[in-house]
Amino acid sequence: MKPRVLVAQRIPADVADWLGRRCELRVWEGEERLSREALLEAISDVEGAALVSYRVDEEFLVHAPKLRVVSDISVGYDNFDVDAMRRHKVLGTNTPGVLDDTVADLVMGLILASARRIPELDQYVKQGRWLRAIPEPFFGRDVHHATLGIIGLGRIGEAVARRAKFGFDMDVVYHNRHRNAGPEERTGARFLPLDEVLCRSDFLVLQVPSTAETRGFFGSREFGLMKASSIFVNASRGDVVDEAALIAALRSGRIAGAALDVFAREPPAADNPLLRMDTVLALPHIGSATSKTRADMCMLAAKNLVAALEGEVPPNLVPELRDR
Ligand code: DGY
Repeated sequence: MKPRVLVAQRIPADVADWLGRRCELRVWEGEERLSREALLEAISDVEGAALVSYRVDEEFLVHAPKLRVVSDISVGYDNFDVDAMRRHKVLGTNTPGVLDDTVADLVMGLILASARRIPELDQYVKQGRWLRAIPEPFFGRDVHHATLGIIGLGRIGEAVARRAKFGFDMDVVYHNRHRNAGPEERTGARFLPLDEVLCRSDFLVLQVPSTAETRGFFGSREFGLMKASSIFVNASRGDVVDEAALIAALRSGRIAGAALDVFAREPPAADNPLLRMDTVLALPHIGSATSKTRADMCMLAAKNLVAALEGEVPPNLVPELRDR
């Protein structure tokens, strides 16, 4: 008998077809996300689930007594309560690798758009305000040859460093918990203590996963060390930043701007001050959102799911669950 699985979102037809040949497949096709209540109901009889960003915690696991694996269709798996998953003997997988270049493209887009004020000047033209050559207050800043600081030189950070170094002749400096020799050699990025990266960077890219150690770690002390002319870029997770400290840093002119693909709460509340600031460029968490990359992520998630259900070690089992 084929194992029963739930996919909590629409997936490409070829992925559904591939999965359907191996599993008894139930796919949520709704426009809206499944509510928590409907999700808990839908997992009650499945052995596997593929989903994005739903919290997989004790409550979830208690509602899914037959569950053997949860396959996240994302690289970040901060939605997993790994201790609870270990207790319930449920595997968890993610989709690293296939999205690195796509997210790195977006990070460069955020840097360029905020440095050259692209969204603002797009509106300027469309609102009929372009009557003569733009005055100096609308001038941007150069990206080429500027210093780019990357906090978190993992796979995506390295893809950003490569673009910055070889595409824009930027001076790339980085900080990690551990020095990362491979990316250093391949991109010329230089390791520095965190505070030095903060002091030197014209553009500061945060590229760290959300974990118990990183949540809220970037706060007023860190913004306080940045150049007043610098732009803060975050396309990793919103909750690694103390958002109140970011708002204060922007309001006081401690930093010049922020380009954000992620927020502490998503979608952000309508009254979030970041959404009303001219110095903020805001996107709806689209780091990996190209058709090809999202399709690749779905296929990788499907392969992880099936491998686990077939009793193999799935290729992208998250590290915290490898020794369970
Ligand atoms: C991920 O996969 O974690 C990304 O944030 C999606 O854009």
